[in-house]
Amino acid sequence: MRLKELSPSAALLPILLAIAPSPSSAFYLPGVAPTSYSAGDKVPLDVNHLTPALSTFDSQLHSLIAFDYYHEPFHFCRPEGGAKPLAESLGSILFGDRIMSSPFELKMAENETCKALCEVVKFDQRDAKFVNRRIQQNYNMNWLIDGLPAGQLNRDPHTNTEFYTTGFSLGSLEKEKPRLHNHYDILVDYHIAGPNKYRVVGVLVQPSSRKDSKILGNGKADCGNAAESLELSESGETAVAWTYSVFWRESPTAWATRWDKYLHVFDPRIHWFSLINSAVIVTFLVGLVGMILLRALRKDIARYNRLDTVNLDDLSGTEVGVEDGVQEDSGWKLVHGDVFRPPKHILLLSVFLGNGAQLLAMTGITIAFALLGFLSPSNRGSLGTVMILLYTLFGFIGGYVSARTYKSFGGESWKKNIALTPFLIPFVVFGMFFLLNLFLWGKHSSGAVPFTTMLVIVGIWFVISVPLSFAGSWIGFKQPAIQPPVRTNQIPRQIPPSAGYIRPIPSMLLVGILPFGAIFVELYFIMNSIWFDKFYYMFGFLFLCYGLMVMTCGAVTVLMVYFLLCSENYHWHWRAFFTAGACAFYVFANAMLYWVSNLKLGNFTSGMLYIGYSALVSFLFFILTGTIGFFSSWMFVHKIYSSIKVD
Ligand SMILES: *[C@@H]1O[C@H](CO)[C@@H](O)[C@H](O)[C@H]1NC(C)=O
Repeated sequence: MRLKELSPSAALLPILLAIAPSPSSAFYLPGVAPTSYSAGDKVPLDVNHLTPALSTFDSQLHSLIAFDYYHEPFHFCRPEGGAKPLAESLGSILFGDRIMSSPFELKMAENETCKALCEVVKFDQRDAKFVNRRIQQNYNMNWLIDGLPAGQLNRDPHTNTEFYTTGFSLGSLEKEKPRLHNHYDILVDYHIAGPNKYRVVGVLVQPSSRKDSKILGNGKADCGNAAESLELSESGETAVAWTYSVFWRESPTAWATRWDKYLHVFDPRIHWFSLINSAVIVTFLVGLVGMILLRALRKDIARYNRLDTVNLDDLSGTEVGVEDGVQEDSGWKLVHGDVFRPPKHILLLSVFLGNGAQLLAMTGITIAFALLGFLSPSNRGSLGTVMILLYTLFGFIGGYVSARTYKSFGGESWKKNIALTPFLIPFVVFGMFFLLNLFLWGKHSSGAVPFTTMLVIVGIWFVISVPLSFAGSWIGFKQPAIQPPVRTNQIPRQIPPSAGYIRPIPSMLLVGILPFGAIFVELYFIMNSIWFDKFYYMFGFLFLCYGLMVMTCGAVTVLMVYFLLCSENYHWHWRAFFTAGACAFYVFANAMLYWVSNLKLGNFTSGMLYIGYSALVSFLFFILTGTIGFFSSWMFVHKIYSSIKVD
């Protein structure tokens, strides 16, 4: 267990070890059963899309557009009878996987040197330009053998341990000139689990560029040597022979731990640091909110103590007068006759809240599932699939919450509410997604989600989610409205002009940054895993961070609302939503910063995609955090006003 090296947080360790399972224990859980081969059995090698990777010389990413392995200009060999797509899960397709069969022939534990993949292929000038450009952008090949990604060997300078990065490069730059890798040395580690039970436990590929390799016919080839490298001419035709060798190495690694090398943790200290940091912030905030609540209630409590003959529940009656001075001291009590006045645009607010609750349930449960090891990277696409399924099913929650809050606000156009809840936000999200996809289609990128998949998603939406949402709304409207604890006056009170941090923009900026602080380190790792095709698996950390984010969001919004009410401003509904939602603004700004520091997107499409996806995620985040902020404030406001006495 690599977590052991961390002594400072020794007290926390036992708990966290239980929560954050190490890869070896987490990845043997459900879903994937080992495949055993006999010696000489054919082991399929499947090919996935080509993805841009970090450039070797400026450590930046130059493109975001993935390409199909069999995209024409690459001229990779196809298997006889054509390449067949592998069955993939919905999440896997949405997250960009396009896995196809290949002509490679691997036989378990049988070394083979220098085989031809197909006849010599010819690159014309246009294709040569296309491929050279992709080499300059450092595109990676992504192969899978028995579900394991083919990687390159790396060494962690800190701990001097070996680990694999997934993918290997399409070509390399030699004196700034692109060289195409046309020969692959495939090194497969296998583990003998029993008599004639061979299992694949590691895959490395060492590609090289060879100018003078030749195809000899009958599957044989002469692989030349790596000293003479191959450059695709941009002024004429280039003939290319694709060749490969396979080496099998026996390995002591057991099947259950075969992913460990891929899921290398560079420096867990940074996670710990951020976690402890946010834990401190949260404790501080929650303490502060608790203190305020206590202070607000103290006088009443003191009175309870004096009137110990009176039943506590009856204290909100009128038998004790205002002479206690309860209502005189602070501003928030002055607005009791207005604080439950329904805000403007209740329809929109309730729809946002419904969708936010749906998102909250989906993200929380997805992360909890991931924590239990159900969604390991070895189970390709499971994360995406589970997210979509949960979101669809939780349409029920969305409908219910939306209807219930709308009714409590005194809304009357219930038909509009029922209709808008499952459509408004999904429509915006899907619309944006569709637009971004158009860009990808335009570029012939494999990242474009196929039209049929789009139809499937829309189908699932209409057949499952929308009816569930309607059902939820129906039940929500059947329930009684949540009654405010104090009566609302006929005539709205004047709001005195507010100053400083109470004004909308400063309050949003102040409140938004704290929940952002709780997640920002994990966010960095998540973005790395999305854009650099790395695996994200620190679900234990993510779970804790998510919890801290929710708590910070709630606590800090409650504080804001308290200050707002103290300044005799009772327009807290939208304010709570927006101040908490402002966290999304930081998420977006962070994405832009990340662009500046890690990406060097050469073309318009990549830039559009990046901004588009960042905006989309930030928008969902806005709804999510806004909802958390709103409901915590709602609870807070109900709590404090039910504790005071009003004539
Ligand atoms: C296959 O090649 C690997 C790596 O070169 C070597 O270690 C292994 O012994 C070879 N196996 C056989 C059966 O020759």
